[in-house]
Amino acid sequence: MSPTGTPLFEPVTIGDLTLKNRIVMAPLTRSRSSDAGIPPEFAAEYYAQRATAGLIISEATNISAQARGYALTPGIWTAEQVEAWQHVTRAVHANGGIMFLQLWHTGRISHPDLHDGALPVAPSAIAPKGQAFTNSGLKDHVTPRALETDEIPAIVADYAHAAQCAKDAGFDGVEIHSANNYLLDQFIRDSTNKRTDRYGGSLENRLRFPLEVVAAVTKVWGGGHRVGLRLSPGTTMPGETPLDSNPMATYGAYVAELAKSNLLYIHDIEGITQLSRAPDGIDYMAFRKAFTGAYIANNNYTRELAESTIAEGKADLISFGRPFIANPDLVDRLRTGAPLADAPKPYWYGGNANGYSNWPGMNGPIALKS
Ligand SMILES: Cc1cc2nc3c(=O)[nH]c(=O)nc-3n(C[C@H](O)[C@H](O)[C@H](O)COP(=O)(O)O)c2cc1C
Repeated sequence: MSPTGTPLFEPVTIGDLTLKNRIVMAPLTRSRSSDAGIPPEFAAEYYAQRATAGLIISEATNISAQARGYALTPGIWTAEQVEAWQHVTRAVHANGGIMFLQLWHTGRISHPDLHDGALPVAPSAIAPKGQAFTNSGLKDHVTPRALETDEIPAIVADYAHAAQCAKDAGFDGVEIHSANNYLLDQFIRDSTNKRTDRYGGSLENRLRFPLEVVAAVTKVWGGGHRVGLRLSPGTTMPGETPLDSNPMATYGAYVAELAKSNLLYIHDIEGITQLSRAPDGIDYMAFRKAFTGAYIANNNYTRELAESTIAEGKADLISFGRPFIANPDLVDRLRTGAPLADAPKPYWYGGNANGYSNWPGMNGPIALKS
């Protein structure tokens, strides 16, 4: 047991991985990659500085050109991208870290500017509210193009290719991004999926594409033991309220199917991403109980809430997002009760190493092994 009386800071084994502690760095898009989806050289330093987390999950990473929804986000489908990520995984491993890559397709949360003028794709032609981050600033979302049924196998193949690229890049596993109303979630929710083919209508049909993706990705990784999945049954992100009409039934059925895939973990955003943990009628513990692998809880956790949640057996791991931005040594700060630095919002997205990989630890610059 840790000095704080709970095992938050103690090693834990999930699947065949032993993690140094139960604290996970949540995926954080930081928009510092090139137009070709190449993460910057200083990304290696940034992630390695945070290798004291039990597990690092990378920023959301596009599986294909079609998947892009935000300027300056990284990719994992070309040889150049794989090579750049190899620098990151080597640096993280040299510093004792374990890192998964988050596989991303944004679907309708995109803009024609990111696709040479072509429309973003989605299950149905329903425009999201809000704005897309393009190379020329924020622009209103547009009505996307509904995917043809015979286009869907190629996207599943893109996921498999990206999963293989992540393996080649030296990641320890992958997390399928099925949260926050990006493409997989757009298929799952009945407010964004109005299809009449085998990928829409019944709950079984709405889950078909995400489960095909899970099958393809787990096949590449030799089973589910190095594959996690992120979901957000209650979130209204990004920018609207496209909730499913019956989230408990929908995500309950999804989790039951995921349990059969022997995934390593589900990573559950409890409440509205970043904004709220207020009761939303969703019984997150029912999902935890229905799932056979590990449960990572996220969203507005403090050290106190993390400790009580672990102590009460309500999660196996807790992920922190925003606190990791300005606190590379977040684990040590939480352990010792040291104050947390706050990252001003202008540093969140875009820019260079400033406000990204130059945050000091509480005892000065973080010393890295190379
Ligand atoms: C700057 C920023 C970027 C984010 N990028 C991602 C992302 O790439 N993938 C993802 O699943 N969630 C992303 N999120 C959501 C976080 O992973 C997390 O769910 C959210 O911040 C709530 O956790 P927290 O209260 O510990 O920050 C992002 C959040 C922030 C603040």
